[in-house]
Amino acid sequence: MDPDTKAARALLGTAARVAVLTGAGVSAESGIPTFRDAMSGHWARFRPEDLASPAAYARDPDTVWAWYAGRYRDVTAAQPNPAHAALAAFERRLGEGFLLATQNVDGLHARAGSERLLELHGNLGRARCEVCGAVSALPPPEAFEPPPRCGCGARMRPHIVWFGEYLDPAVLDRAAAAFAAADAALVVGTSAHVHPAAGLALETLRAGGAVIEVNPEQTELSPHAAVCLRGAAAAVLPALLQ
Ligand code: OAD
Repeated sequence: MDPDTKAARALLGTAARVAVLTGAGVSAESGIPTFRDAMSGHWARFRPEDLASPAAYARDPDTVWAWYAGRYRDVTAAQPNPAHAALAAFERRLGEGFLLATQNVDGLHARAGSERLLELHGNLGRARCEVCGAVSALPPPEAFEPPPRCGCGARMRPHIVWFGEYLDPAVLDRAAAAFAAADAALVVGTSAHVHPAAGLALETLRAGGAVIEVNPEQTELSPHAAVCLRGAAAAVLPALLQ
């Protein structure tokens, strides 16, 4: 075993509380494009402000819904990969000391069996009523005709946190508390550009815990990490968490 993996395993082995933050990179091996990876990322083909913002939705809800319906279809067809599975198995071993906060909206962590899970940016498989705020699951992609309608009759929007919107404060508070209490924070497959999610691991550092990063590339968080494991999540996590 290489020295970095050994060091990271030692940190996790003595940690009673572990908080995990994941980003798009954890789903790369499931065939879901990341946001900022130049050639294949979503944002290389679309301008985010044209699709993922309240203003874009107000201007052209049909186009925005068509884009989200396509992504919903894609993630439903995708399968969780060994990185998602390794995190779910680790959670079963650690129990209450574990929390997974994901920025991903693809639902793959839940499908892999993660339960102590916070979906910070929402979920492609859910919609929220524009009038009464009720949240409900979408029908299967083959039966889904956007836009969905709420029981109250109003149109529903994607249950996603868009550019210029705030995260649910209750969800963010639970995540921040878990990261502050964690002996180790494991940060996987995120460019650590988008706040407040990107700042969660700093809560662990501030409280005296250690940060482990898993990412093929250097990020803004790398200089703060005790250990950086440079590789694909689907290869690194099964070895790290076995
Ligand atoms: P990004 O696309 O910004 O970053 C993906 C990260 O994954 C990069 O740092 C890559 O180096 C890394 N990566 C690529 N392949 C990987 C692999 N196989 N294993 C591990 N890491 C890999 O995605 P996020 O950081 O998740 O927000 O983006 C954060 C937020 O920005 C998203 O949740 C989204 C977007 O705006 C909303 O939709 C609200």
